[in-house]
Amino acid sequence: HPPVLQMEESSVLRRANCRAKGGAPGFKVAILGAAGGIGQPLAMLMKMNPLVSVLHLYDVVNAHGVTADISHMDTGAVVRGFLGQPQLESALTGMDLVIIPAGVPRKPGMTRDDLFNINAGIVRTLCEGIAKCCPNAIVNLISNPVNSTVPIAAEVFKKAGTYEPKRLLGVTTLDVVRANTFVAEVLGLDPREVDVPVVGGHSGVTILPLLSQVKPPCSFTPEETEYLTNRIQNGGTEVVEAKAGAGSATLSMAYAAVKFADACLRGLRGDAGVVECTFVASQVTELPFFATKVRLGRSGAEEIYQLGPLNEYERVGLEKAKEELAGSITKGVSFIRK
Ligand code: NAI
Repeated sequence: HPPVLQMEESSVLRRANCRAKGGAPGFKVAILGAAGGIGQPLAMLMKMNPLVSVLHLYDVVNAHGVTADISHMDTGAVVRGFLGQPQLESALTGMDLVIIPAGVPRKPGMTRDDLFNINAGIVRTLCEGIAKCCPNAIVNLISNPVNSTVPIAAEVFKKAGTYEPKRLLGVTTLDVVRANTFVAEVLGLDPREVDVPVVGGHSGVTILPLLSQVKPPCSFTPEETEYLTNRIQNGGTEVVEAKAGAGSATLSMAYAAVKFADACLRGLRGDAGVVECTFVASQVTELPFFATKVRLGRSGAEEIYQLGPLNEYERVGLEKAKEELAGSITKGVSFIRK
């Protein structure tokens, strides 16, 4: 190391030891794909999170640049960068939470499923690292298609003998964030007051907003229901088209990822009543994975909530969602088993 880096490293260690002695609360979090469109703002927001004491930023490009930049923020978390496959194990060792936004995003005209061929292999490699170096970490999987990458991760962990379904969580928070925003617009409310459960999965018709269960209680005309359901299901495509080839949602996604990661960390800390929607191993339907509200605790998704009463429109939507989801789950599972 040149002298400046040496000094930074020793001061990093001093601070980390200091923190350990003082017993200050804080979790160790790794972001895999930290130099990407989602990864960079996500890294910035996690550096601002008081529950994080150590933040590891891993990518196959530019990890040190992003780390140098973010490490100058005068917040508590100690930041370290890791570049390329040879440093993956160091990036993962000792982590409590691993967030994965690594992989290619959509361009106009592409579905999330079109990303499968590239992202499936990336997720497999990263999850092999997690199984080896931090098998007890909670995993927040963002890389698309989430409906297939979560089953891929599960199969990798099963093969390694480290699979704990409660700790493997597909991030669907952006669908909830969009639903809250669009419903608030229609109702003329502040989005912070609105809670829309979104169940199923994270792609097209598998994204099923339960508008009959919105809080505060309200009702929608059939036209409003149709408009809102379509807009929530196609919110991602709205951004892909507006960016016209420059990628998909990154900033709202980073916001959503931090909202979910923060909930996971509060659960790990033992806070009561932490509830979020996530795509997780589930017995709520006949499918092995399904997104619903869950209660997050010290061991991950400790309680998985049932769907609750659905209206006719939602029952029809549920059947369509399950049909598509079944195929995406099978595709993910067979990618590893074949
Ligand atoms: P991006 O292309 O801007 O960034 C991806 C990053 O992953 C790049 O920095 C790249 O170097 C890195 N990467 C590639 N291979 C890697 C590997 N083997 N190990 C570690 N890092 C690797 O893409 P963006 O926009 O950040 O999107 C990332 C993923 O998130 C995409 O798959 C996208 O579809 C997905 N996504 C998921 C959403 C959700 O709601 N779950 C919403 C929006 C995007």
